[in-house]
Amino acid sequence: AHQWRGVIREYADRLPLLDGAPVVTLGEGGTPLIHAEQLSERVGAEVHVKYEGLNPTGSFKDRGMTTAISVAAKHGAKAVICASTGNTSASAAAYATKAGMTCGVLVPDGKIAMGKLSQAIAHGATLLQVDGNFDDCLTLARKLAEAYPVELVNSVNPARIEGQKTAAFEIVEALSDAPDIHCLPVGNAGNITAYWKGYGESLSPAGDLAPLATRAPAMWGFQAAGAAPIVLGHPVDQPDTIATAIRIGNPASWELAEAARDESKGVIDSVTDEQILQAHRLLSSTEGIFVEPASAASVAGLLQMHEKGLVPAGARIVCTVTGHGLKDPAWALKNADGSDVQPTRVSVDAVTAAAALGLEG
Ligand code: F0G
Repeated sequence: AHQWRGVIREYADRLPLLDGAPVVTLGEGGTPLIHAEQLSERVGAEVHVKYEGLNPTGSFKDRGMTTAISVAAKHGAKAVICASTGNTSASAAAYATKAGMTCGVLVPDGKIAMGKLSQAIAHGATLLQVDGNFDDCLTLARKLAEAYPVELVNSVNPARIEGQKTAAFEIVEALSDAPDIHCLPVGNAGNITAYWKGYGESLSPAGDLAPLATRAPAMWGFQAAGAAPIVLGHPVDQPDTIATAIRIGNPASWELAEAARDESKGVIDSVTDEQILQAHRLLSSTEGIFVEPASAASVAGLLQMHEKGLVPAGARIVCTVTGHGLKDPAWALKNADGSDVQPTRVSVDAVTAAAALGLEG
């Protein structure tokens, strides 16, 4: 059986930036594209979910971190740094460890999901809680990388985009062409930039390889309503959303996201926290796919577009869900009305247990 070799080796012909770099990999990529039957029926289209929570550290960041850390290793870097709402820090910490580098992470005070924080610490990163939001953390990280011998591994690093574009290649291969529409959450806007680059490159040959696709999808990006600078057309000073991963008020790749939207004839819109949590619940309870809240913004956005009558009947649609549900599991333990889910207590007795399970004899 074929063992997946990680995105650098699998897509070497399409990653010229990595030529001559040592390969630092944890086997990222090769994630499942799952046909979402309930969701398809609901929106009258053919919907597939790209489950990026199944990457080694539980988010799509690993695709860009294998490339960023490999390029840093090629440069002889001993240390890397990033700003993060959590997932980037978990990924950077793991790949830096694999490469024998030290890792510094700058996170906004008190707004990081527990799973992500524990990963960064487990992998030995030096964690600085910054008295400010993500945008302040990124400004600080950029200053440090300019003035000190440390490599910045945020998505402003071109190697990150190179790695992340491979998700588009996988989708095109799985569907034998690009979908009609691609939905994804937008935070710092690196990922929408990367997917658009990947779909664009799928139209051309690479090395000995034939083009993968005959067309490119419309890119539909979704921000959280309390952190929707691209939708509003101005930076948001105090971004706020329960989807902490995308709690970003001034995205670094703002213009590139707008270019992806406009060139693809797509949209960037916003969804409320309530819509995000509904989509989060729908994915886990009807599709069997557990994601962190920010990831559900893609599906919340698709449902909103459907309600507006903007989903073409029968369209082929891919929704990327970016991070695993175990990153931020507490949301699953709340009922729709906000109360805590309570386990049903039973004694060691088959009749009572069967009744509680709704089983009939
Ligand atoms: N979904 C998740 C789970 C994320 O962690 C992020 C970004 C996004 C979506 C948005 O992607 O920034 O490329 O538009 N997380 C970054 C981090 C900011 O620090 O982990 P984007």
